[in-house]
Amino acid sequence: MRYNKKELRLRVDFNNMMSKSVGHEGFSERQIASYVEEVEAAFAAVTAGRGKGMMGWTELPYNQDDVVEDILATAKQIRKNFEYFVVLGIGGSALGPIAAFQAICHLHYNDLPKRKRKGPKFYVEDNVDPERMQALFDVIDVEKTMFNVITKSGSTSETMTQYLIINDILKKKLGDKAKDHIIATTSANSGNLIKIAQKEGYKTFFIPDGVGGRFSELCPVGLLPAAVVNIDIKGLLQGARYMDEQCSNPNVKKNPALLAALMQYMAMKRGKNISVMMPYADGLKFVADWYAQLWAESLGKNKNLDGTACNKGQTPVKSLGVTDQHSQVQLYAEGPFDKVITFIGVDNYRAEVKIPDGCEDFPNVNFLCGHTMSELITAERKATEYALTKAGKLNHTIMLPVLNEFTLGELLMFFMLKTAYAGALMGIDTFNQPGVEEGKNATYALLGRPGYDEKRAELANAPQKLNKYII
Ligand code: PA5
Repeated sequence: MRYNKKELRLRVDFNNMMSKSVGHEGFSERQIASYVEEVEAAFAAVTAGRGKGMMGWTELPYNQDDVVEDILATAKQIRKNFEYFVVLGIGGSALGPIAAFQAICHLHYNDLPKRKRKGPKFYVEDNVDPERMQALFDVIDVEKTMFNVITKSGSTSETMTQYLIINDILKKKLGDKAKDHIIATTSANSGNLIKIAQKEGYKTFFIPDGVGGRFSELCPVGLLPAAVVNIDIKGLLQGARYMDEQCSNPNVKKNPALLAALMQYMAMKRGKNISVMMPYADGLKFVADWYAQLWAESLGKNKNLDGTACNKGQTPVKSLGVTDQHSQVQLYAEGPFDKVITFIGVDNYRAEVKIPDGCEDFPNVNFLCGHTMSELITAERKATEYALTKAGKLNHTIMLPVLNEFTLGELLMFFMLKTAYAGALMGIDTFNQPGVEEGKNATYALLGRPGYDEKRAELANAPQKLNKYII
């Protein structure tokens, strides 16, 4: 599909981050200019890091021609031969597939009749709640299901548990044919899943070394599930590439991700420790979830790059417009000045519903009649922006001309680059996650994984819980 770049260019409106709009809580041109050296250093660090170390994700829009063809061919076969497609993964190996599915596919995709869906029913199992696993078996037929096991490390307990359960069921039902129901997406040269895949003969896709979980949506982690449900993955990559090109400008005023990172960094310095993401589109609900992981795991760190101690980060909060206007906006408007709110708006919704007449005798209801639902949701977004700005609360708005594969690619790349720039400004390692590893290792120790005796002993010596505090 062809996309018109100019028409689909995502816009970021920073007006309500400026003192001119928001009063003394906002920033002045002079304050922005005072960060020139830090901004130049952050831009240089990110630019120099591109494609190296854990920044392999910057090259994904450019270097996947062969793998994209393989994914498209595989997805075609899956659509032909299977009625269900189930992703087994967690964290970065699940949030991107969920976000893209919700953003692009019909909002009740699984409930559509088969001829309208044009693809298998789609599920992402990103937990180890036994009730949910059992519930899955009540709605799928494993003999008609393709399972995509996704884990970069190839050893995450949750994903490998799901794999073990599925593999057992498939082998009991299908014997040697079980292998035709599992695709492994994992690291090519480390971890257990690749070894298991080779032994069992699974089709495999690889997660490049320099692509960490939360930066992996644009590699086979996200592209295969997306292609299976007919998402135009080439469009996704084209949009990401277009955003990457715009964000390669060293001029902070012309580089949306760099300016967004700088403003967030300046806000953090003033104690704004919460980043609220509030899309006004149900399709983007899970982009807010995906962003929450990206922002939290990347920036929540207790060490600076030079090894000195710190406790940095900004807590992401997921919110949905307009639904959460009736739940959280009271706090955002009148509560503490500790947040930056990011609205996401859409110029043209993909469907339109007119609000009919029918209440002529009731002017306080009748005023809605004759408008459309997109007029209403847009008015509510603008009204909430206005109310928060009037209350002196920092906010900015990302506008998508329309939500499609191209603009979703732009949005994902924008957030990944913004995160990389923010981490560089903060002087931390954006790409590690030692806090997550600690929990993973403790789980291995508790469940008896070989090689974790020391961790087991450490846990045994940790302070024990006292009954007097459990009432
Ligand atoms: O961003 C990350 O690296 C993590 O959130 C991982 O995605 C998550 O822990 C799952 O890891 P894996 O893909 O190795 O199973």
